[in-house]
Amino acid sequence: MKLFLDTADIDEIRTAVRWGVIDGVTTNPTLYAKVKGATYDDILREICGLTPGPVSAEVVADDVEGMLTEGRHFAKIAPNIVVKVPMTENGLEAMSRFKAEGIKTNCTLIFTANQGLLAAKAGASLLSPFVGRLDDINEEGMTCIRELAEIVNFYDLDAEVLAASIRHPRHVTEAALAGAHVATLPFKVLQQMVHHPLTDLGVERFRKDWTAARAAAATNSAAKSG
Ligand code: G3P
Repeated sequence: MKLFLDTADIDEIRTAVRWGVIDGVTTNPTLYAKVKGATYDDILREICGLTPGPVSAEVVADDVEGMLTEGRHFAKIAPNIVVKVPMTENGLEAMSRFKAEGIKTNCTLIFTANQGLLAAKAGASLLSPFVGRLDDINEEGMTCIRELAEIVNFYDLDAEVLAASIRHPRHVTEAALAGAHVATLPFKVLQQMVHHPLTDLGVERFRKDWTAARAAAATNSAAKSG
């Protein structure tokens, strides 16, 4: 299973890349709004220099021509850019035109398996159901992941299911078990995945025991030589 980082924060991306666990990055206008002082293009350029994996850049136009103009512009920034397009009627048309032009797309704001099926048929290579936002409205976000992954695999569709709107580590495990090909995570969730109280406690205990053992050895050898 691939893990993407869901952020436009360069420091977070740098850290996760150093850990060696990141296969790509997704951004959106909300995530861009959180990082101040640089253009979206500059940020995308920098992210693409940090990871060779797919980097999603989201269009904000809601008409087909506008989406195409924005997406073609993003695609020129780096070869690993994937244009993120919303699941709308115009979005479907734009995705199918991008496909014809050889530009990869990530269909965002998917909330049903049917929407995901349409996006795959229109040519999106990444299908992004929003797990957390479905859970927020008392639906079972993971059902959408499971159904869509089954459809993609059953018909051998040329697309991957990307679990988005991941809110906590359990979502990652469940998305993996439900057959998601990718999950995109906020940095905080990635950090939460690293830690376990028993791991942290175990590291601390080994360090203490090691220090005590070395001190005892040093005392012993001093006593022998003295
Ligand atoms: O990848 C989409 C994601 O950023 C949305 O997450 O938590 O705003 O629903 P959230």
